[in-house]
Amino acid sequence: MLDSSSATPPTVPTVVPALRPSEYTSALIHALRAEAAGILGARVLEIGCGSGVVLAALGAMGAASLCGVDIEQDAVAASTRLLHELGHGATLELHRGDMWQPVAGRRFDLIVANLPHFPMEPVEFAGRLPTWSAGGADGRRLLDPFLVGLAKHLAPGGRAVITHNAFDDLARSRELLMRSGLSIRIALTTLVYISPEKIARMTPDVLRAEDGRTIHRYGPYTFGELHIVEIAAGVTG
Ligand SMILES: C[S@@+](CC[C@H](N)C(=O)[O-])C[C@H]1O[C@@H](n2cnc3c(N)ncnc32)[C@H](O)[C@@H]1O
Repeated sequence: MLDSSSATPPTVPTVVPALRPSEYTSALIHALRAEAAGILGARVLEIGCGSGVVLAALGAMGAASLCGVDIEQDAVAASTRLLHELGHGATLELHRGDMWQPVAGRRFDLIVANLPHFPMEPVEFAGRLPTWSAGGADGRRLLDPFLVGLAKHLAPGGRAVITHNAFDDLARSRELLMRSGLSIRIALTTLVYISPEKIARMTPDVLRAEDGRTIHRYGPYTFGELHIVEIAAGVTG
């Protein structure tokens, strides 16, 4: 019989607490898994790859190549480690850099992003770096340049799948995309929990406008509506 006290403990993969996946990450992976057939053989790019877990899910669904960009060196290191551990090293390319800059002039079949787009100014809290979720006063500091640059990075027939807070002006996103011949479709909508610490930092004008509309409060508990949207040429919705 095996003496359990002397058995080698199973290796626990490294989790970087500041990069732990969020409910936004879960919703994005869920939406991608629902259309896994479209991922097989795709050349994939993720802007803001964080822990690397979204790329890992795409690799597991059969993406042909995985490219990730993140502004934080810790995120690039964590993604590198995770994707090598999971056997995706041969098809992997990771860059530390700002948004589109490391992939200038290149095109991909699928681009995914869970950008920092919560309407608040950057601040370090909940064990996260200031670059994790803050999108400036209207939440659009990264969303706008992402949407404006997207068409130049999509291969013919390509698409993007991104998280989009319902309180971040979806109509403006639609308008920006229309200018470059792209359109947006809501693939799913869910609710995400917003901690008291985070809601207290939300831009007051946005909170006032969205309270009871896309932000729902039950006593001390607050939830925000989150869309996962698909963007492509000719998609409507
Ligand atoms: C909300 S987190 C998402 C991380 C990961 N994709 C996930 O869903 O778990 C946003 C990520 O974007 C990165 N980021 C912030 N500003 C960026 C920029 N200008 N260019 C590239 N990445 C950026 C952050 O470092 C962070 O890893």
